[in-house]
Amino acid sequence: MSPATLFVTGGAGFIGSALVRLLIAESDWRIVNIDMLTYAGNLESLASLAGNPCHIFSQTDIRDRAALDRLFAEYQPVGVIHLAAESHVDRSIHGPADFIDTNIVGTYTLLEAARSYWSGLPSEDKSGFRFHQVSTDEVYGSLPAAGLFTEFAAYQPNSPYSASKAAADHLVRAWQHTYGLPTLVTNCSNNYGPYHFPEKLIPLMILNALAGKPLPIYGKGDNVRDWLYVDDHARALRLVFERGVPGETYNIGGHNEKTNLEVVDALCALLDELQPRADGHAYSEQKTFVADRPGHDRRYAIDAAKIERELGWTPRENFASGLRKTVAWYLANPAWIEHVVSGEYRHWMQRNYTERSAA
Ligand code: NAD
Ligand code: TYD
Repeated sequence: MSPATLFVTGGAGFIGSALVRLLIAESDWRIVNIDMLTYAGNLESLASLAGNPCHIFSQTDIRDRAALDRLFAEYQPVGVIHLAAESHVDRSIHGPADFIDTNIVGTYTLLEAARSYWSGLPSEDKSGFRFHQVSTDEVYGSLPAAGLFTEFAAYQPNSPYSASKAAADHLVRAWQHTYGLPTLVTNCSNNYGPYHFPEKLIPLMILNALAGKPLPIYGKGDNVRDWLYVDDHARALRLVFERGVPGETYNIGGHNEKTNLEVVDALCALLDELQPRADGHAYSEQKTFVADRPGHDRRYAIDAAKIERELGWTPRENFASGLRKTVAWYLANPAWIEHVVSGEYRHWMQRNYTERSAA
């Protein structure tokens, strides 16, 4: 008999690929990875799984209802962990359309495909089914100097990205309330770690530093983010999917609040130690203050007491240990970086991965 099947959307992205690698390594699920491979999708991040029969890749757009219906009918999953999204705030400011389409319409389309499949299940399978929406703390808006986001914080999204995620979360809530679809929502703080696309703060700074380019810090660099190592997030997602209570929301965060300047200084210090500049100068000399992001949220910070108390999750990495691992990974994986920078990763599937079946 085949192992039980789980759908993961966005499994070729940064967090999705970490989740898929973790599930294949540590669980018995067969994973159907549904990802349309936008600029952010990179199958090279799943190279270690090529040929593994427990990982089935499908290049599918979550807005394609007919394709989703075919996948549900063919693989009969026990649930969906939904990560596919447009995820970068700056891109959402320059062009919100894809964010509305994928994050809102895509989530709606996936919810409807899941509901249609779920409605036809026998009652014991129906109650066991889960639709897990992976969301962000950015839906709660911006915090002043004190206070934390709990699961009761009001939604006050400020960017087109966070507004589109908030809209999707509300759809998920409505599908649970109205149709009884067993849903879970997790809201996580900023992630960092290996295989992170270099448009986000931490990988961008590492790559620019190594390339001798400026390190662009928005405004004064005093905005605060609460950082979580990506594998800690992946473990939390697995736990919530397997043990979370349907209808509930769980906040996930690492108690690692840092200003952006503190993050960049920590990265420069690690690079000075692990790969000093050839000219003997400090990487911090590359820091450059640039115009602030429009509508830049001041501070995010997560109260993760609920997931700790109810599901026993705590992060394994602190910021110092996680950042050291991250920098070490980027230094040890120049080929992954080079392919991303050159665009070569876009051709990787044709050469190395057989669509729909890794076998
Ligand atoms: P990412 O941008 O690295 O990956 C997104 C993936 O979704 C890509 O592989 C892309 O190809 C795929 N995708 C995009 N549009 C699609 C579509 N229409 N159909 C199918 N696939 C599509 O994002 P990430 O940083 O890994 O974030 C994953 C999820 O976690 C997102 O939902 C994001 O909102 C959420 N999240 C991210 C963070 C963070 O710090 N990065 C924090 C909390 C929550
Ligand atoms: P980012 O990684 O884009 O994540 P998010 O906007 O979802 O929090 O940015 C993290 C912080 O770093 C945010 O306060 C904006 C800031 N930032 C810079 O100062 N310079 C940069 O080049 C980038 C990409 C971000």
